[in-house]
Amino acid sequence: MIKATNLTKKYDKITALDDLNLDIGDGEIFGLLGPNGAGKTTAVKIFTGLLKPTAGEVIVGGYDIQKEPQKTKKIFGLVPDNPFIYKKLTGYEYLNFVGDLYDVPGDVREKKINEYLEMFELTGQRNDLIENYSHGMQQKIVFSSVLLHNPSVIFLDEPMVGLDPKGARLVKEILFELSKRNVTIFMCTHTLEIAEKVCHRIGIVDKGKLIALGTKEQLHRMAKDKGPAGVKDNLEDIFLRLTDAGEYNSIIKYL
Ligand SMILES: Nc1ncnc2c1ncn2[C@@H]1O[C@H](COP(=O)(O)OP(=O)(O)OP(=O)(O)O)[C@@H](O)[C@H]1O
Ligand SMILES: [Mg+2]
Repeated sequence: MIKATNLTKKYDKITALDDLNLDIGDGEIFGLLGPNGAGKTTAVKIFTGLLKPTAGEVIVGGYDIQKEPQKTKKIFGLVPDNPFIYKKLTGYEYLNFVGDLYDVPGDVREKKINEYLEMFELTGQRNDLIENYSHGMQQKIVFSSVLLHNPSVIFLDEPMVGLDPKGARLVKEILFELSKRNVTIFMCTHTLEIAEKVCHRIGIVDKGKLIALGTKEQLHRMAKDKGPAGVKDNLEDIFLRLTDAGEYNSIIKYL
């Protein structure tokens, strides 16, 4: 459903993404992890046509995003790291506006908007301006807008930031359900606990390079092989070992 081949993005001084190859199947929940500046957002922006790669190609749902951007954009949804929403609209008006963009028929649209506002507990605020919403409430509106047109693929860049525990749980359940319905999910996150619970496979990028790819069990094995012995079976320890985060005792002395 998502295929990246030899994807590279170079800026003047750095290579933000270095020869990325990925093949993500229908209904898979894929998590891309990596330290700050590793290239995760760059990858999402290229996958969704917001950035042009320096080299390589991306196929989403059978379409080449470079060659057929309009067709590709119809089949995916994006929750970006810094969503742009028209804050002078109410939550309801914004969702209607997105419905227009994607040609969601009126009766279906009305039903879905009402259901999503209810699901995210925003019915009481539906007619308030988005500028008066909290960060998490805005994030919930962005989620709702992405679900409106039944995308086959959803890209999420740090989706859990700002959500309260109930909202985060709800999003987790939504992702599971979408995956069951064969929607493919590509998620960048620093929330390792979410990645561990939700993702079928995980990729780790570091300085633009994909340094690990597989299930949590496969990554655990890779981390153990890297040595020294004794990596715990949790994604935090696995991640820190694979990204050479090192020992903290020597750093803590700076405090
Ligand atoms: N427009 C730009 N011009 C120059 N360098 C850029 C530009 N955009 C991103 N970069 C660089 O590309 C690298 C990857 O950035 P990116 O935003 O993809 O990282 P990230 O993995 O999403 O990090 P974070 O976890 O902090 O969100 C960084 O070194 C960043 O400084
Ligand atoms: Mg980012």
